[in-house]
Amino acid sequence: MSHLSQKPSATENVRRSASIISTGAYLPSRILTNADLEKMVETSDDWILSRTGIRERRIAREDEFTSDMGAAAARQALELGGIDPGSIDLIIVATCTPDTAFPSTACHIQHKIGAKRAAAFDLQAACSGFLYALVTADQFIASGIYKTIMVIGAEKLSSIVNWQDRNTCVLFGDGAGAVILQHRPGARGLLAYDLGADGGQGDILSIPAGGCRLPITPGVLDQRLQYIQMSGKEVFKCAVTAMNRSAEDCLEKAGLKAEHLRWIIPHQANFRIVDAVAQRLNVSLEHFVMNLDRYGNTSSACMPIALHETSMAGKLERGDLLLMVSFGGGLTWASTVLEW
Ligand code: ACO
Repeated sequence: MSHLSQKPSATENVRRSASIISTGAYLPSRILTNADLEKMVETSDDWILSRTGIRERRIAREDEFTSDMGAAAARQALELGGIDPGSIDLIIVATCTPDTAFPSTACHIQHKIGAKRAAAFDLQAACSGFLYALVTADQFIASGIYKTIMVIGAEKLSSIVNWQDRNTCVLFGDGAGAVILQHRPGARGLLAYDLGADGGQGDILSIPAGGCRLPITPGVLDQRLQYIQMSGKEVFKCAVTAMNRSAEDCLEKAGLKAEHLRWIIPHQANFRIVDAVAQRLNVSLEHFVMNLDRYGNTSSACMPIALHETSMAGKLERGDLLLMVSFGGGLTWASTVLEW
């Protein structure tokens, strides 16, 4: 196991940290309910709801790609922030469902939104990708290299789900969220973070085929190895332990306690995981932002979508403290504390 998390505590923080200037989100219009899934695999609304908390999820059209959803979220963030696409210096897209291996999805989006000056790259840390990308963007802003950065989490998970596997197909959905970051004078922005990984347990949540290790062949397709494989129970246990520890480490680095937080935005994988983390942190579930019931697990998109919805609902005021905590394939985990 390794930890990459050396940011100074809030009181020592003299860096030009990144603040979130604006947000955007996009969800496909097609809704797939638990009742719809009952017609596809042997499952029930009752099982899915009681084991996960998910009621429905959004599914992108066949001709709607990760970059289309990411670009839609990006356009909204640009509009709400009153920011010209030409002023974006860098686009980082967190995704595990890129349109193409290359060009990167970030390059597709750069073209679609007309961010002609922007550098662009993808970052892959599965469900932790958005927070890894946020921390990466913060480094570029704190160092003074870039002024305005767009971070996007976008996923078309419906394209990597085995729709015959009830263990996984009920869990995931499609969508995208975007944030624009700048240093805001006088604001503390990103206060602390904790990033971690454990590659030794990568096999409990993976897509075995499609890379150079196991190229796609007719035999691979027959075994459906191009789709998500997951040992649900193992992932569940690791998620609770890692999210709790990461959140506590991050709060300590920020010099804060959970009671100082207005909101906690957890990775939206399973209500029972969030409940277990809430109990361990001793924080009421009322402080947790949840949209899992409507969108399922949208991997790297779920954090920026939840952030956008919270902001749009008028539930965020300047100075509010937020903790975001995620867990995903890799294994990877990540937490950030930021001042809104
Ligand atoms: N409908 C009905 N029955 C089902 C379904 C379903 N959709 N799926 C599984 N079952 C059955 C199983 O076959 C099993 O039956 P059996 O006892 O006859 O063998 C039974 O339900 C219990 O299965 P469990 O795996 O024990 O169920 P559990 O309570 O662990 O819940 C779940 C499964 C929801 C997957 C849970 O383990 C979980 O949420 N894991 C974490 C997932 C996660 O966090 N992923 C995050 C990362 S995703 C990413 O990075 C891309």
